[in-house]
Amino acid sequence: MIYLDNSATTRPFDGVIDAMDRCMREAYFNASAAYRPAVDVDREIRACRRLIASQLGAQEDEVYFTSGGTESDNLAILGVAATLRHPANFVCSVIEHPAVLETIRRVEAMGHEVRYMPIDRRGLVDLAACEVLLDEHTALVSCMQVSNETGAIQPIEQLARMARAKNRDVRVHADGVQGFMRVPMHMGRMGVDLYALSGHKIHGPKGVGVLVARKGVRLAPQMTGGGQEKNLRSGTYNSPAILGLGEAVREMAARRDELDRLRAMKTHLWALLSAEEGISLNGPAPEDAQSAPHVLSVSFGGVRGEVMRNALEGEGILVSTGSACASHKQKVSATLRAMGLSTEQADGTIRISLGMMNTMEDMDEAAARMLALYRQLKAYRRR
Ligand SMILES: Cc1ncc(COP(=O)(O)O)c(C=O)c1O
Repeated sequence: MIYLDNSATTRPFDGVIDAMDRCMREAYFNASAAYRPAVDVDREIRACRRLIASQLGAQEDEVYFTSGGTESDNLAILGVAATLRHPANFVCSVIEHPAVLETIRRVEAMGHEVRYMPIDRRGLVDLAACEVLLDEHTALVSCMQVSNETGAIQPIEQLARMARAKNRDVRVHADGVQGFMRVPMHMGRMGVDLYALSGHKIHGPKGVGVLVARKGVRLAPQMTGGGQEKNLRSGTYNSPAILGLGEAVREMAARRDELDRLRAMKTHLWALLSAEEGISLNGPAPEDAQSAPHVLSVSFGGVRGEVMRNALEGEGILVSTGSACASHKQKVSATLRAMGLSTEQADGTIRISLGMMNTMEDMDEAAARMLALYRQLKAYRRR
């Protein structure tokens, strides 16, 4: 099997599984308890906090553990909204993940205005168009760091600067679920106040994530209870998952040089596919600075993405049509439509996403099978 759906989820590193196994067998104590073995678990959790903070130019006490990217996005957006005393406006891009889009709809139902930033043909937020959307009443700007569908790296730093010029007190939220450990992020330098990340996209466990909230950012808790995480996120620490996440970050950091290998694989795969007439790329070119090293969105003209996906599965190659969350709903991708693709083009698209376990041989094999299937399916369609 060749697994090329790493934006949906990744296979955990062996070290992650070992860390979780050890925690569950030997270090199962409640990290908030007072006896020594529990204090030791708490110390390990703190080490994970430090490690995560160090990857983002943040401080250890700005890291809040959650149940994943979805909860982190919810806490950022609803947490800010719940502190507001007057109606304000919230700005996000049209291509956000449902974890942001659906949450921001709830903010709208609370009486705030929501404004959507358009994107250009390459899938990048159109900064010129954003200028008029931002004003002194903008409470929060939310933008994903990397698109889960096209791999486009969004201009967060420029956006943050633009928003702050309009309102000094604006909060900038970046959904970093697809970008964390793959694309650089320094929250201080880039002007990001709130950053959401998820364990299972970086070869860590599912059901664990982090919201990094800079000091001074007021957030109202969305989960109340025992007062963990400085009252911002109650609930017993999911220590196996947190330690597993820490291990994933450690390994991704140790293998950072391999991001070039990832990009080389993506570039190679696209070079093989692009030689065929009818196949087109969505998003920035793989070698562009705005292209993340791991996601490739490809349209196969005249063939439905779903047909291609199923045919590839038959040959042992797993990819997706659009994002995993949207694929079961059978909707045409809002991201691709916003980039100007016709329904037919969007419908003929598959997303190929690479992980640390893929090899160059996987790319050769996947491209050969994709091309052979595409030729067959195109010929069949003409008859
Ligand atoms: C950009 C983005 N944001 C948020 C999420 C949700 O993260 P999680 O699965 O950890 O809840 C995903 C997952 O696909 C994502 O791609």
